[in-house]
Amino acid sequence: MSRIYEALQKAESERKLERHEREPLTPVNEVEQMPATAALADYETPLPFAEERTVEGIDDAGAPLSMGGGLNLSSIPRLPWNLAAARLPALLERGPAIEQFRSLRSRIYEARDIRPIKSILVTSGLPQEGKSFISSNLALSLARHKNSKVLLIDGDMRRYTVHELLGTESDPGLADYLAGKATAEEIMQRAEEPDDPNAAGRAVLQNLNFIPGGNGGDKAADLSGSARFGELLRTVAPYFDWIIIDSSPVLPVSDAVNLARSCDGVLLVARSGITKYPVAQRAASELRASNILGFVLNAVHEAPQVGNYYGYNASKE
Ligand SMILES: Nc1ncnc2c1ncn2[C@@H]1O[C@H](COP(=O)(O)OP(=O)(O)O)[C@@H](O)[C@H]1O
Ligand SMILES: [Mg+2]
Repeated sequence: MSRIYEALQKAESERKLERHEREPLTPVNEVEQMPATAALADYETPLPFAEERTVEGIDDAGAPLSMGGGLNLSSIPRLPWNLAAARLPALLERGPAIEQFRSLRSRIYEARDIRPIKSILVTSGLPQEGKSFISSNLALSLARHKNSKVLLIDGDMRRYTVHELLGTESDPGLADYLAGKATAEEIMQRAEEPDDPNAAGRAVLQNLNFIPGGNGGDKAADLSGSARFGELLRTVAPYFDWIIIDSSPVLPVSDAVNLARSCDGVLLVARSGITKYPVAQRAASELRASNILGFVLNAVHEAPQVGNYYGYNASKE
């Protein structure tokens, strides 16, 4: 296991960023080592269209009531999510990984104290650096706080994978909304309540809503530039404490830079031992018009620590 370094910059760091003195700040555990091999050209190849799914199975029980402004959260369907637990360490009650995500969460709270932040886009220079891993686990970590409502959006409309981690449908999703084919309520989903009231992660999942990627295909660039993304964030913002947006890498395609314009902040991911410094630097440069909160250094290898050995970091939340 490795440790995650600090990921967010504080107020002074913003000034440093403007002077192009960006420093890696935050880290996440290596759950298991995986090679980063995806090629840029491959990234742009659209995925095949997923089967059409109609929105059904609506269950109003326990849903928050609409607070006005056009979004009726009680109509969000509950679907049977089949979580990929091995890739969602933030679901666990304790362990080194959850400690690291808790640390990342704390840095985000600090950043919010300095300047209001609700929507955070997670991106990086290249594929396979851990954007989807970080955004999904960060969303779960933020949803751990009681009454902390979190919306996780898969903003990678070409290589959408967050639905695989949650074990659910990939459409209708963001691409359908941006293309004007679906409403905000139609693209949102949440997990079915488990029968077992003591099921792992039950409370966390109750705070989580999800918008999958849909399938933007080769229209993803145009869709990401649509003003409808900003409208969507404005529509859902009153109902959530946090909106975490996974996205595509910024060097091969422009989608994430487009989406970032509507977000309050951007987290950049760099993968330990894989991401080259110039790649991280160019990624930051592409996003210079956005509020870069900091870097998350992902998949850091680390020797066991004394604290871990004695279980001091295994505190229960
Ligand atoms: N810290 C980590 N520890 C273990 N596996 C990781 C870690 N970060 C990412 N991975 C794995 O690496 C692969 C690429 O990560 P992913 O989040 O999909 O990258 P991206 O979204 O940047 O393309 C996935 O199989 C993911 O589960
Ligand atoms: Mg991804």
